[in-house]
Amino acid sequence: MTGKLVVNLHKLARFTNLALPLLAGLFFLAGLRISFYFHFLTVAFLGLNLLNAFYLFGQRGHSLLRNFGILGQGRYILESLGPELRQYLFLNDTEERPFNRNERSEVYRKAQDINSASSFGSQKDFDSSEVKVRHAMFPIHPSDLAPFGVTFGEERGCPNPYRLETPFIISAMSFGALGERAVRSFARGAKQAGILMNTGEGGYPKYHLAENCDLVFQMGTAKFGVRDADGGLDEHKLRDLAALDSIKMIEIKYSQGAKPGKGGLLPKEKITDEIVELRGVPKGVDVVSPPSHKECYDLESAVRFIQTVQEVSQLPVGIKLCMGNAAEFDGLVSEMKRQDVFPDWITIDGAEGGTGAAPKAFMDRVGMPLFPALKLADDILTQHEVRRRMKLVASGKLVGPGRQMIAFCLGADVISSARGFMLSIGCIQAMQCGNNTCPIGITTHDPDLQRGIDIDLKAQRVANYVKNLQHDLEELLCSAGCRTIQELSFEHLYVPKNSTIHTFISSPR
Ligand SMILES: Cc1cc2nc3c(=O)[nH]c(=O)nc-3n(C[C@H](O)[C@H](O)[C@H](O)COP(=O)(O)O)c2cc1C
Repeated sequence: MTGKLVVNLHKLARFTNLALPLLAGLFFLAGLRISFYFHFLTVAFLGLNLLNAFYLFGQRGHSLLRNFGILGQGRYILESLGPELRQYLFLNDTEERPFNRNERSEVYRKAQDINSASSFGSQKDFDSSEVKVRHAMFPIHPSDLAPFGVTFGEERGCPNPYRLETPFIISAMSFGALGERAVRSFARGAKQAGILMNTGEGGYPKYHLAENCDLVFQMGTAKFGVRDADGGLDEHKLRDLAALDSIKMIEIKYSQGAKPGKGGLLPKEKITDEIVELRGVPKGVDVVSPPSHKECYDLESAVRFIQTVQEVSQLPVGIKLCMGNAAEFDGLVSEMKRQDVFPDWITIDGAEGGTGAAPKAFMDRVGMPLFPALKLADDILTQHEVRRRMKLVASGKLVGPGRQMIAFCLGADVISSARGFMLSIGCIQAMQCGNNTCPIGITTHDPDLQRGIDIDLKAQRVANYVKNLQHDLEELLCSAGCRTIQELSFEHLYVPKNSTIHTFISSPR
């Protein structure tokens, strides 16, 4: 005998199952003898008894409830409250995923224009796997920084090049994954901040267009918005869309970090009449996009398709992909050279990227993380001597200036972020993007939940976030001794030997 207090759940359940009818009986008697008001408790306890009987004898789906009755329900209730309890009470500032409290607070503070300086010391690891930025012994003065600017499409003499003067893009998120008020907050904020917003693969970008910001129209594999009857590209629709004032560039999505090799997914819970109309899809069933474009079945056709979209749209055209097999990427670049067709940019989306909805195994296990993928892409393009034929856009948990700076050193020209901007408008990482129940009102179409979003205020948060990111980035550039982002290189990083950057690159291609 150890004298340890052990809760015997089976005994406790038997006690509960006995106590419930007894209490109902007692309250009934008290109602007769003492006060009529006890009958309210009688009714409540009769209800509990009925529920208990149903759990024990009526239902067969839950073994726990069949064995323990109403007591077993306590476990389900606690389990469902678990994420909130852990987030609010138990996990420390560096533990949560995908973004820990420190990372989220940094975005909240930037979005609210509050100084995000911290005290006492870093909570990061300084071990043999963390990548750090190398500073210069003689930092430069902010007044010596050159203004930022990249021009998409300049390399191939695109008739309508696009110049971006702030190195951030709001990454692809469709109307569908996002509700109307979130789309409008991002779009209004993008306009205020002078950055680009990607429409995501949600079809005709009605709400994005309403705010007159500069847009990248994303063509997903289902080609919502520019699709012909057979699921291929309708060139007339693309031409009409590309002619709109706000559409500045087109992105062909080959794959996405959170679900590479799998098409987009919009759960049926989120399919409203409006989405039926904008995407041209049926109501009441999940919308699953094909894993690849109908026109792209090998390297040759994939590159040819880029040229078709460039010719039809007359705009800068980029591709988005998550790195899988490096040899395949090498083959793609060789094919681009052979055809002398290059996208105006490639978005490298890390496997750690977010999504509205995706199978868990894909999120957890498929694709290469951003940093090694970016380094590989930059290296392969450089080896083929075509690095300067296009821009590299990077996405994958680039929500704070530290990781963004590392991405620039690894070859990125521009940073794209989805969840950074979601956090900037108040996302609390409830992890319910696919359920139409987002408590903040961002990834839902429920008008009661969207009510929480004040578009003007959230647009200002987006603009503040961009302003403060840019400020920090400039300070980091000065510290690295560089006048421009283009001067940053791998040499500006301290990369320990067992960092993932090396691990992935040295593994078989
Ligand atoms: C709610 C949500 C919706 C998304 N929708 C799309 C989409 O329509 N098309 C796409 O290519 N990527 C989509 N993504 C992925 C993002 O564009 C981005 O590639 C990825 O989240 C990495 O950036 P992050 O880590 O800053 O979120 C979505 C992500 C989220 C969180």
